[in-house]
Amino acid sequence: MLAMNFRGPLRVRIDHKPMPEIQHPQDAIVRVTRSCICGSDLHLYNGSVPDTRVGMTFGHEVTGVVEELGAGVGNLKIGDQVLVPFNIACGKCVFCQQELYGNCHESNSQATAVGGIFGYSHTGGGYDGGQAEYVRVPYADVGPTVIPEGMDPDDAVMLTDVVPTGYQAAEMGGIQPGDTVVVFGAGPVGIMAARCAWLFGAGRVIVIDHVDYRLEFVKNYAPCEAYNFKSLGDVVVFLKRTTDWMGADVCIDAVGAEAAGRVMQTILGRKLLMQGGSATALHWAINSVKKGGIVSIVGVYGPIDTLVPIGNVVNKGLTLRGNQASVKRLLPRLIEHVQNGILDPKALITHRIPLEEVSDAYRIFSAKLDNCIKPVLIPPSARS
Ligand SMILES: NC(=O)c1ccc[n+]([C@@H]2O[C@H](COP(=O)([O-])OP(=O)(O)OC[C@H]3O[C@@H](n4cnc5c(N)ncnc54)[C@H](O)[C@@H]3O)[C@@H](O)[C@H]2O)c1
Ligand SMILES: [Zn+2]
Ligand SMILES: [Zn+2]
Repeated sequence: MLAMNFRGPLRVRIDHKPMPEIQHPQDAIVRVTRSCICGSDLHLYNGSVPDTRVGMTFGHEVTGVVEELGAGVGNLKIGDQVLVPFNIACGKCVFCQQELYGNCHESNSQATAVGGIFGYSHTGGGYDGGQAEYVRVPYADVGPTVIPEGMDPDDAVMLTDVVPTGYQAAEMGGIQPGDTVVVFGAGPVGIMAARCAWLFGAGRVIVIDHVDYRLEFVKNYAPCEAYNFKSLGDVVVFLKRTTDWMGADVCIDAVGAEAAGRVMQTILGRKLLMQGGSATALHWAINSVKKGGIVSIVGVYGPIDTLVPIGNVVNKGLTLRGNQASVKRLLPRLIEHVQNGILDPKALITHRIPLEEVSDAYRIFSAKLDNCIKPVLIPPSARS
């Protein structure tokens, strides 16, 4: 089958790989119909996630058709059209029981933090992902969800990650009615977080990035105030000034390890890989939230130590919350929001690219060319 193949930092290509096979009674084999590239894939692509092995296929945002089922999967049938949450979760361990499906203890038992994630290095469990014609889905009786009748497949694929992650970013912010919410990052996740902030009762939403076409998009889509940090001078002072010098009630980091904006962080975190990424957006979030405020972190950082202004967290009495989104927990509510038109995630998809052109797709998304917000790879069998 055709599959994306990681050859080392900044080098991915399309290749032929053996078809995945059922390895366990709870497995399914899914024929992929859509597979997005995510900001999280850029951490792998750039070489900042430990143990990303040459030969791995990325891709954790997948829709497809069930082709084969292990004997232990009773809730799906061959031919079902499914959306597959990015977390691989057993559904039974102590963490899954608490609906912490991003922290499953069984699907990535070598790791102490994150559970298994499709196509996300051996740190994420070593599972091949879905930027391919077929993907093996473990614990298929837990994660995959039949796409509701009438739902646009482009909406469905956005429900595998971007929608739940944006929603959970807002949820973890503990937004109270009337709150001022600042979202760092106008990528798909930040855009969705800004949109969802309103659902929790925000009174004002501000988005910060340095890519103008994304700021323009989020300004209309969320809708919100949107600022290019390059034109603000000191971002923290700007945010303080615009909030009567109090600071925002809630700040959301939807940037993570690839953050731009501060030379020292970029050198330490992105060039020398001496910390788990560049923590520039997180610095800004901590320093521009008000005393007693909440910083919600969905931006991904590597497992090693990262320099953050922890003294300010203590002295300001802040609450920091973060996690991988718990997709399965949120799906029922978010499917309803999409069906009722409260959320329109397919609007973020700007590029439909044949799977065979995966290396171009990474280049376009990574370099933010051609006004790209969210690219979707379409395998040959889903194009006819
Ligand atoms: N926690 C989760 O479950 C989860 C799920 C999906 C993605 N993520 C993470 O969320 C983050 C965003 O994902 P995405 O797909 O939107 O990625 P993306 O790369 O498309 O977007 C990131 C945006 O941040 C902007 N940016 C860079 N430096 C900035 C700074 N200092 N301040 C403000 N903006 C800055 C970039 O210009 C870009 O538009 C990534 O770190 C990704 O790994 C987390
Ligand atoms: Zn993703
Ligand atoms: Zn589990």
